[in-house]
Amino acid sequence: MAIRKVGVVGCGLMGGGIAQVSAQAGFPTVVREVSANALEKGLGSIRKFLQGGVDKGKLAAADMERTLANLTGTTDLGAFADCDLVVEAATENLALKRELFSSLDALCAPPAVFASNTSSLSITELATFTKRPGRVIGLHFFNPVPLMKLVEVVKTVRTDPAVLADANAWVLALGKTAVNCGDSTGFVVNRLLVPYMLDAVRVYDQGLASRDDIDNAMKLGCGYPMGPLLLTDYVGLDTTYYISEIMFDEFKEARFSAPPLLKRMVMAGQHGRKSGRGFYDWSTTPPS
Ligand code: CAA
Repeated sequence: MAIRKVGVVGCGLMGGGIAQVSAQAGFPTVVREVSANALEKGLGSIRKFLQGGVDKGKLAAADMERTLANLTGTTDLGAFADCDLVVEAATENLALKRELFSSLDALCAPPAVFASNTSSLSITELATFTKRPGRVIGLHFFNPVPLMKLVEVVKTVRTDPAVLADANAWVLALGKTAVNCGDSTGFVVNRLLVPYMLDAVRVYDQGLASRDDIDNAMKLGCGYPMGPLLLTDYVGLDTTYYISEIMFDEFKEARFSAPPLLKRMVMAGQHGRKSGRGFYDWSTTPPS
């Protein structure tokens, strides 16, 4: 595999998780945030997760040390100059990603592979922001990254088959399972999952059943690890709303349209776990 050193743009929920699993798999990994504060917050979350693993007996203390030794935090994009793979996990904002990809293109060596963790933007479009469209790919991880086994590996019509092979090998080296798919908005998981989450909000709003009964129905009736309203809180109501807007714009199908209740809750700042309130109150453990 041609991938030795890895860069991750963004140390939030997703970027931090990706940097962690990369470092944990033995790859020297540089993770970049926009400010020293954001970086310290992100690295703190990684340390906390690793320490949680040690406390639960899931991770040896030496493995935690080794992971942290493989991880370097920075606020300087220039630190990616010698990376073989750069995974972008910045905010879902096309203008921001355009700027990032064109800066990375200017500073990284021509063989470097660029991946995006976007869940809804077009990899084909992101590739046009570089002069190396054949070396741009989608690597879509799931939340919480260290625990979720799947990565969607997304190729465009331009993706070089050798890049696809390297990306699949890297995902395997992380101990994850790759599914390969084409560049269609939402890929496989969100194409199927987002309408399900939106329908759960719709039937809740219509009064079909209570919040807990809807969540228990799907959890216990289908064997899902959590019900759809708890999952929406977990993913973030703002993120779910944002993804649904992009998917509706792409497919023009009613099943991707955001229910008014979701929109209102987002406007009211009830973004789920991250804001302390969504369908559940997250100030208690477990959420109530
Ligand atoms: N280090 C190491 N291992 C840890 C750990 C840590 N810090 N914390 C937990 N674990 C381990 C636990 O020990 C446990 O291991 P075993 O199964 O061997 O016992 C396992 O991880 C699960 O942890 P918990 O028991 O604490 O938690 P749980 O069983 O309630 O599972 C969950 C938590 C994995 C989040 C589960 O509820 C789940 O799968 N939920 C669904 C999440 C989901 O669907 N995510 C996708 C969202 S969509 C998305 O991300 C895409 C998008 O674009 C929107």
